[in-house]
Formats: sequence, C-alpha cells, structure tokens
Amino acid sequence: MPSLNDIRSTFLDFFARNGHTVVPSSPLVPRNDPTLMFTNSGMVQFKDCFTGAETRDYVRATSAQKCVRAGGKHNDLDNVGYTARHHTFFEMLGNFSFGDYFKEQAIPLAWELLTKDFDIPKDRLLVTVYHTDDEAANIWKKVAGLSDDRIIRIPTSDNFWQMGPTGPCGPCTEIFFDHGDKIWGGPPGSADEDGDRFIEIWNLVFMQNEQFADGSMRALDMQSIDTGMGLERIGALLQGKHDNYDTDLMRSLIEASAHATSSDPDGAGKTHHRVIADHLRSTSFLIADGVMPSNDGRGYVLRRIMRRAMRHAHQLGAQDPLMYRLVPALVRQMGAAYPELNRAQALIEETLRQEETKFRQTLDRGLRLLDDELGQLPEGAALSGEAAFKLYDTYGFPLDLTQDALREKGRTVDTDGFDAAMAEQKAKARASWAGSGETKDAAIWFELADKVGVTEFLGYDTEEAEGEVQAIVAGGAEAASATAGQEVQIVLNQTPFYGESGGQVGDAGLLRTATGTAKITDTKRSQGLFIHSATVTEGEIKVGQGAELLVDHDRRMAIQANHSATHLLNEALRRTLGDHVAQRGSLNAPDRLRFDFSHTKGLTAEEIAAVEAEVNEMIRQNGEVVTRVMSPDDARELGAQALFGEKYGDEVRVVSMGRMDASGKGSDGKTYSLELCGGTHVGRLGEVGLFVLLSDTASSAGVRRIEALTGEGALAYLSEQVKRLAEVAALLKAAPADVVERTRALVEERRALSNEVAQLKREAAMSGADEEAKDIGGVRFLSRIVQGVSGKELPALVDEMKAKVGSGAVLLISDTGGKAALAAGVTADLTERLSAVQLVKAAAEALGGKGGGGRADMAQAGASDASKAEDAVKAVEAVLEG
Ligand code: ALA
Repeated sequence: MPSLNDIRSTFLDFFARNGHTVVPSSPLVPRNDPTLMFTNSGMVQFKDCFTGAETRDYVRATSAQKCVRAGGKHNDLDNVGYTARHHTFFEMLGNFSFGDYFKEQAIPLAWELLTKDFDIPKDRLLVTVYHTDDEAANIWKKVAGLSDDRIIRIPTSDNFWQMGPTGPCGPCTEIFFDHGDKIWGGPPGSADEDGDRFIEIWNLVFMQNEQFADGSMRALDMQSIDTGMGLERIGALLQGKHDNYDTDLMRSLIEASAHATSSDPDGAGKTHHRVIADHLRSTSFLIADGVMPSNDGRGYVLRRIMRRAMRHAHQLGAQDPLMYRLVPALVRQMGAAYPELNRAQALIEETLRQEETKFRQTLDRGLRLLDDELGQLPEGAALSGEAAFKLYDTYGFPLDLTQDALREKGRTVDTDGFDAAMAEQKAKARASWAGSGETKDAAIWFELADKVGVTEFLGYDTEEAEGEVQAIVAGGAEAASATAGQEVQIVLNQTPFYGESGGQVGDAGLLRTATGTAKITDTKRSQGLFIHSATVTEGEIKVGQGAELLVDHDRRMAIQANHSATHLLNEALRRTLGDHVAQRGSLNAPDRLRFDFSHTKGLTAEEIAAVEAEVNEMIRQNGEVVTRVMSPDDARELGAQALFGEKYGDEVRVVSMGRMDASGKGSDGKTYSLELCGGTHVGRLGEVGLFVLLSDTASSAGVRRIEALTGEGALAYLSEQVKRLAEVAALLKAAPADVVERTRALVEERRALSNEVAQLKREAAMSGADEEAKDIGGVRFLSRIVQGVSGKELPALVDEMKAKVGSGAVLLISDTGGKAALAAGVTADLTERLSAVQLVKAAAEALGGKGGGGRADMAQAGASDASKAEDAVKAVEAVLEG
C-alpha cells in the first residue's frame, strides 16, 4: 500500500519524466495576490504565468502545494473533524502548462497516471466536461474509451473554474471515482450527486480566459493547463479507504494525539483527535511560513485554529499543553517533503506551547461560564451574542470556537447579537480616543482604520507582495485616485513596507498598479494603518486597484543590519559597563545607527574597543536571529530587555540573537541578546558584516549617545581611513606602519623649530634698540615696531627693552598679519608718575583699538589696524611730552 509520501513522489516523478520542472511549494502566505488570505490551490504561485505577465525559464511545471482553507473565501474550518474530507490544511498535486500543451495532452497524461502508475481500474472512473466543450469530450472518448454516459456534460460554474472574481479562468474537466453501490450517491449532475459514492479526485482546468472586475472577459493569448488533485483524497482511494483521516499520514497524527492523551483513537474522542491532527498541520505550516498568532488578519486565523484544537485537547482531558508535543510526529511524517518544517520545528513547538499555556489560563473559566449560560437557556435556544462576546473579549474564545463547542450540544450562537456587541465596544473605544488628546490630524486615520481595518504587515517575511489600495489621502482628505505629479498618502489592506516605529525608519520603494506607478518615499503608522507617503510618477493610482509593492531591498538590508547591530551594541554595553545600561532611544536608518543609553561618563578608549570587539565577534559567529511571539510576562521571565516606559499589548515579539561562547562570556549556550522588538532584522548576524563605533558623546544628563556604522557603510568608512593614512604616509615618505613614530618626531621637531623662530624674532626685534631711544619730556623712550611676534611673547621683550633703557618708558607694536599686538612698559623708578596702562591705551586708540590693561610697569592691548603703527608711537610721545 503506497504511503502519502510515496504517492506525492509518484505524481511528481511522473510529470518530471514527462518534461515538467518540479517546482517547490510556494509559502502559505501568497506573495502575489492581495485578495487571498492563504494559498488555496496549486496555481496561485503561477497566476501571472497564465496571463503572460510573468515568464519563467520553463513552460511545464509540477508541484505539491501546501494549501490552507480557513478564513477568507474558502473556509472549511467549521467542518473539520466532523466529515471525511474537510481539512484546513491539505496538499494539492498539480501539473501546469504555460502556453505549451493544452487539452489534447493534459487528458492523456492524467489518464495514464491514474490508470497505469496508480493502477486505478478504468471502469471505476468517469468524468465531467463543460457542456459546450465538445473538444474535451471527444478527447476523453478517444483516449480513455469512455462511453457517453460516463462523460457528463455540466452546464454550471462547477465546470468553469475561476480562481476568484478576477484572474485567469477557463472550462474544466473533472475526474470522479466510483466507490460502488455499497455507498449511497448519484453521479455528478444528478439529483443525488451530494452522496458519497462518486468522489471528485482531479480537476483539469483549460486556462483560456481572463476575467476582469468590470465583468468582461478576454481570451488569453496562450492556452494553458492548471490541474489540482488533493493528495489526501487520492491517498484514501489508493489505500482503499473512504475517509481521508484513515490514510497513513493522518492516522499517524491521530495516533500520536491518542497516545499523548492515553485515549482511544477511535473511541468517544474520535472527533477531537481528527480536529487536532488537522489543526496541527495547518498551525505548524503557518508558523513555518512566518505567520504568528495575533489579534488580527492571518495571525488571528492562526490563533483561531490553534485555540479550536486546544479546546478539543482539553475535551480529551489533557492536563498540560498537548499540541507542541505532537510536532515531532508531524515533522517525522512531512519534514522530508517540506524542509521548512525541520527548520522551524523549535519555533513551532515554542509558539504552540506558549499559546496553549496562556489559553489554558482562561479556557476552564470560559467553559464554565458557557455551561452556566446554557443551563439558564430554554431547550434549543441560541446562546446570546453578549455571552459569546464576553467569551471572546474576556476569555479569548474566538467566535468559531464557541460555535464549535455548542455544535456538540446542538446549539448555535446569535451572531447578529455578537456583531452588535463588537460594534458597541468599538464605538466606546472611539469615544475614549476622541477625549484622549491625540493630535487632530490623526482623526482621518482613525476614521479610515474604522472603515478599512488595520493594515496587515507582511514585511517580516517578504519585501515584495501585492496589496489592494484601500484609501488615498491627498492634502488631508480622502481621494478616489491620484495622478502623476501628486504627492499623496496611500493605505493598503496589506503591505511589506515597514512603518516607522521603535527607532527603525519606514521603508521606501515602489508601488505599481495596472494604470500607474508611484515612488514610496516613507512609511509611517497611525491607528494600526500603514501610511505610505507616495509620489505618483506615472499614470494614475486608483482606490480598489491591486498594487504590486516592492520594498527597496538594499535600503531595507542596510536598515536591518543597523537594527540588529543596535541589539548587539545594547548587550555589549551592558556587559562592558554594567547592568545600569538601559536603552533610552535609538535610530536605525539606512546609513547609520544611533543608540542612547543611561550612563554618566564618557567611555574610555579601552571600553570602546571592548564593545566594538564584542559586537564584531557576535557578527562573525553568524548566529541565527530568531523571533517569537509571547505574552509580556513570559518575555520578562525569559529575561528579555524591554524598552524603558514602553507600553506593550497582549503579546510581544521577542527577538533573540547570538550565543554566548566559551571564551569568557560563559559556555552555557545561552542567548546573547534577547529583546522585545517589533522591528525587522537580518536572518543571520553575519549579514551585519562589520560594526564600527564612530563616537560617544553626552546626549543629556546621565544619557550617552553612540553613533556607529555597519556593513558597507562601516567598510566605506574604514577604507576612507586607510586611504587617508596612505596619503599621510606618502606625504611623510614613510611606511604606514611608521607613520605614528614619524609624526611624533615631526611634532617634536616643529616645537623645537618654533621655539627657535621665536627666539630669532625676539633677537631681530631688539637689534639696534639702544640707538633708537629718545629723550622726550625728560623721559628716555624706546619704541619698536616688529613683525609677527605674538602678543604673549611681548612682555618678555618689553622687559628686555626696559633693561636696555635703564630708566624710561618703552612701547612695542607687533604687526600680526594686519592686526596689532601692543605692549608698553615703564621702569620701576618712574611708575609713580607714569603708567604703562595710560601709554598702551593711547597707542591702541591710534590703531583703532579700545582699552588695554595691565599694571603701571607693564600693560598690553590689541588693535585692529597695524598699518598706523607710526601714529601710535607719536601718540605715546605726545603723552610723554605732557
Ligand atoms: N486550480 C484548480 C483547482 O483548484 C485546479 O481546483
């Protein structure tokens, strides 16, 4: 009996043998379709290949695609566990032709695989075709030899496949398996078609049209093939089972659940085990693809599935968290086909364990409340919306969990009442916001958030995605469109653009719709909306359009390298300086990082070197950066560094990076840095490349600020330093290694030379001084006008001049590049009647200066114009003459 793993391989090998490229499953979060919550069929990743918008280097492909149908248009969540063929997670096997082969080859390929490789008896198979598709009917007749009564023409949309309201589409042919008359049911198209006897196993779509939003349809330039076969269904068939949950893979998960709860897999808890087996698959694969439990968007769908399973575990009497203990069984079954499960195993287990631990705290009380409510209700009455809302709001019961719990008791919920209670709570929140004093211009964002709901952020996992334009704001008011040249703000239902927060700047990049292009220059957040600042560069952008969103990759990489380095820096500072170091602010821009932290004095050169070395050591260690979501309390317990004074919601993202190593920082294998953080980070620390600490300055009292560079910026900075060093070395005619010694010698030499020059200037200034002394008003007066002697050297010269005149007055004027430095002196015997201060003031005044000061025997002044030095001498002579 082939296992599901064998069947998957047989399918892929068959098409590979027939010229198809085996393409890995795309992630469960579609990158190329804003209208889809989760990837729900094999063709999603090839959507644009059918319309011709994208070409790949192959024209035939085959895949086993992970699909989730929970939330959004296709929602099978409610039925899981209770039916034979509903799953929230399943695998779709498919083969695809992009303008290569069409019906004439698709049908024989399918027939060959089913009847030869899978060895299904021909007489158990029948098919449907679209009622006008004679071509397909004829091919079936010819290839399979099916009689007319086993080629059933269906006139409804059942045989015209559309991926959604828009997009590629076409007529299809479906292949059915007849389980025989032991099981009730009629062939497709008959009154009894809903019975279980005839089961659809494979859908072959002949992609030939494209549907547009306005209702029109065009013929595609090329004719293509898209097929889909549920692995669980074909598996059940080939394993001789009627129920998908009896296949080997599902059975192993059911048995793991039974084993872990010491219960009978087929006993009273049968439904619980089936729900747990299915939900284990969807939750694990969603977490592996980057979805984290949260209170909105995809994260909330994940949470709903998890909690639904957890209630069933509780029903089985599980005393401790159960789901995470089943992950190894899933990884054993599916890890080989989907390596992402292996990679994410630890994250999946921890996320499930945390979520279940947290939920169990309210689950018991919620279920008791539910029982009490039901006890008071008349027989068969629906649970009130208010009670369901209380369970939701206070006990964390998603509505569908409450409905699921009631289903077992044959009851329903008043969902209108639930919606009304929800609306009332929102109105209250709004009223309290209005009085909260937030700025007025936030009003428009509040209204928009109310109207369109919060933006879902995809940028933790991707830098490219599609979103739907939900609002355009121009000049503070909503607009229906924006045209080239306009600067507007754009809101989409989902985006890969990071909105500025936590010190990390917003992303920039490009937005493209079918009719226009806009440059995104920045992204901010308000009221849960991501607001893209955009300049329309071409055509027109309209509300309601699908938009391709491309984050500027290099810029984002640089930003997140800086952000991860900031975490490392924070930890390195704490380890080097002490536990008092706490983050007080940060900036993570593409070109630099800034980190403010509490510390009172500047870092020593040794401390800077130690911090820089430690950060770089972590970068070279190249550890993985891991993000988990948990309650703030759990995060604190783990020892995560939280931002001072920051408010946190129900859950926080915890980012951990680096391992402590054996050399000095402990060999316990513990995480190096653990912080609460909503930002984006590098995948592995090696991507940071390099860290250079540029400066440490005082920011405010008790707060230091470090600026630093990483990656290319750091390298460019260091290259520049090396270049400068080389230039200096060339100037010094020395090897770079000798530059310091040579420079020290030069500085010494320069000091000696300038002393010598000063001495020579002094000597030059004094030469011939004797001859020039005059007798004025009975006082011997000596004056000198010199060049380039600085003010601070003048007193010594004045003393020399005084010594030369013996008894008298002296004046010294130095032309220091146009300006004048002045000094006057009076010998001690004359200071009773003559003051140097008076003399220097008179001289300074003649040179356009004011003031001057000193003592009676020595005074100095400065003046702006040395060219009139002769006048200054005359002015002093006039004073002496009396
Ligand atoms: N895309 C087709 C389906 O999902 C094959 O049924």
